[in-house]
Amino acid sequence: MTQLEAYITENEGRFLEDLKGWLRIPSISTLPEHAADIWRAAQYAVDQLTVIGFERARLIETSGHPLVYGEWLKAPGKPTLLVYGHYDVQPVDPVDLWHTPPFEPTIRGDNLYCRGACDDKGQTMLVFKALESLMTVNGTLPVNVRVLIEGEEEAGGESIEHYVKTHPERLGCDVVLICDTGMPAKDLPALIYGLRGIIYTEVEVRGAKRDLHSGEYGGIAPNPLHTLAIIIAGLKDAGGHIHIPGLYDKVRKPTTEELKFWNEDMLHINGLLLEEMGVSQFTGEAEYSPMERIWARPTLEVHGIIGGFTGEGAKMVIPAVSKAKISLRLPPDVKSEEAFMLFERRVKELAPAGVEVKVDKILGGEGVMVMPDSPPMQAAAAALKEYFGKEPIFIREGGSIPVAALFHEVLNVPVVMMGFGLPDDNLHSPNEKYSLSQFYKGIRTVASFLQRLT
Ligand code: BES
Ligand code: ZN
Repeated sequence: MTQLEAYITENEGRFLEDLKGWLRIPSISTLPEHAADIWRAAQYAVDQLTVIGFERARLIETSGHPLVYGEWLKAPGKPTLLVYGHYDVQPVDPVDLWHTPPFEPTIRGDNLYCRGACDDKGQTMLVFKALESLMTVNGTLPVNVRVLIEGEEEAGGESIEHYVKTHPERLGCDVVLICDTGMPAKDLPALIYGLRGIIYTEVEVRGAKRDLHSGEYGGIAPNPLHTLAIIIAGLKDAGGHIHIPGLYDKVRKPTTEELKFWNEDMLHINGLLLEEMGVSQFTGEAEYSPMERIWARPTLEVHGIIGGFTGEGAKMVIPAVSKAKISLRLPPDVKSEEAFMLFERRVKELAPAGVEVKVDKILGGEGVMVMPDSPPMQAAAAALKEYFGKEPIFIREGGSIPVAALFHEVLNVPVVMMGFGLPDDNLHSPNEKYSLSQFYKGIRTVASFLQRLT
């Protein structure tokens, strides 16, 4: 056994305790009442970096939530790796569906349950522990490392965007590692070369100046809830086609290899997707394969509708206001700003006369495509093979990490997206979890990746 392996094996228990300590801090970035928790979670990451021996480990204040930075640049002549992660998490509602409290890390079987267990404290902590292990065993790291962690990823990542754009010189590096993605199954290691972008919007419809008696005014009054239904139905049809003129214009045709992989589905990923959703068939654009639909097609989803009467019993009222939360996922060539313009125009066009419609963009971020065959990707592939016993597959994923596109564009270096999340990790849902074996393998894999970068 190597010294590194011995160190990791001996310290697995403490690594897990360090993760649990971080998880207990409810760092929900979108809820103002958690501002103090955000700071505590950021400071926790600074402390981790300091203990490892990073220099200038500190918080960087922004107009939003703080960034965490640290560096170790004592390997002259070696490449520099920039590590990215996020310490913020999603809200926990509906809280009654959690089997154990959302911020009390709990182990059941091979899984650690807690909000953020995977996304992204678990995945970020495993990189810290790979760095710690290499540093402790060797007294040095194989490459130079900068770490930049944000606290606003789940809220759109505006502050890190500003920082990367205004201080690219402070982030000088040869390669970026993002550990915030997943793999399709435990025995299917994956490297991600594409992510979708996103716009998240709020559509508000206003009718009469106040709620109205539905008998007195029904027949002549505008109903903002019904208006929303008309708008929503006009945006996407039952076949999954989005009716926003211009939206599909820039969607680039996938490569022949991609189409072959998606259409043939030799690894039976479609079956895994159905099983994970607990449904018997896919919805959406039947003329595209399911993998193309989730990884490479624009999609439009309604997340919530607010308005009217939802209590017990009956109340005959025509509401004055209604709102819907609607988002679009965008393949990399469809830019978020343009998509928002097209969306806003279409929503207004669909609204019947007599109501006032307002469309707000809550957040937006670009998709990304990276080169699957860069040397760092090959290093990551070799590391995955070492610990998962198989060549990884190169795939896209449908989620969004807005800063990935920025790193790619502004720093102009290869971006390696290697994560260890699993489809049943319940990201953004009740009972989020992380597999302990994935956590421990992830530590070893990332350590191996660093050694292979030199
Ligand atoms: N870790 C996810 C992104 C992800 C999920 C990538 C699954 C690949 C597979 C990330 O934390 C996330 O959820 N991002 C948000 C971004 C948004 C709020 C800008 C998302 O995708 O909804
Ligand atoms: Zn994440």
